[in-house]
Amino acid sequence: MKTYKTDGDFADNYKFLIGSILPRPIAVISTLNIDGSNNLAPFSFFTAISAQPMIIAFCPMIRSSDGEMKDTVKNILREKEFVLNFCTEDNYEKINLTSTELSYGEDEFKFSGLTPIDSQLIKSKRLKESPIHFECVFRDMLCYGKTPGSGSLITGEVKLVHIDESIMKDGKIVTDLFKPVGRGTGNDWFKTDGRFQLERLTKSQIQK
Ligand SMILES: Cc1cc2nc3c(=O)[nH]c(=O)nc-3n(C[C@H](O)[C@H](O)[C@H](O)COP(=O)(O)O)c2cc1C
Repeated sequence: MKTYKTDGDFADNYKFLIGSILPRPIAVISTLNIDGSNNLAPFSFFTAISAQPMIIAFCPMIRSSDGEMKDTVKNILREKEFVLNFCTEDNYEKINLTSTELSYGEDEFKFSGLTPIDSQLIKSKRLKESPIHFECVFRDMLCYGKTPGSGSLITGEVKLVHIDESIMKDGKIVTDLFKPVGRGTGNDWFKTDGRFQLERLTKSQIQK
């Protein structure tokens, strides 16, 4: 087994992270730019945190090209809100385009051919091509550095959940209808059709 220290270049550590922690779900975060235009970007360092209050988290890093905070972060710190949209087999190619580094204020919805629709509680737009939307109010931000590759953790409290009824059955989201897509290492992406079932057993069932 080869052992590595993590005090070197961020790019090496980044490869260890994306090669080890996978498949990763993809948060597609929509925010409002200062001029009222829209911003959209995908983040695969992303997870659920709490059910009540309903909290999610994602992790934007400092941009390696110019050492600045990403546009998503600037917008969330100013507007205190964002929409979490989801990446599926029907939208992933366009979602990939939204990760292009555009000048601040350039609208990734327009750039990638995606459609913004109004939210109910907040000003940030929802992504029409996503079958699920979470309207979120900013909760916390933890920053782990100011240099390229340094990450941060942003949490949001989900105030409203919108779900396309066509992906639901008996009040639950059906994975085969939702068709979420995830991220791997390098240029790898994942579909979620290679699933298997495994029952979670109680101690008494195991000891029978
Ligand atoms: C599928 C995918 C997942 C990504 N995940 C992250 C991530 O977790 N953290 C991050 O900082 N950048 C991530 N990126 C890169 C950002 O999307 C990219 O830097 C984008 O330009 C940020 O946009 P913004 O400046 O409008 O916020 C990812 C890109 C792709 C295609």
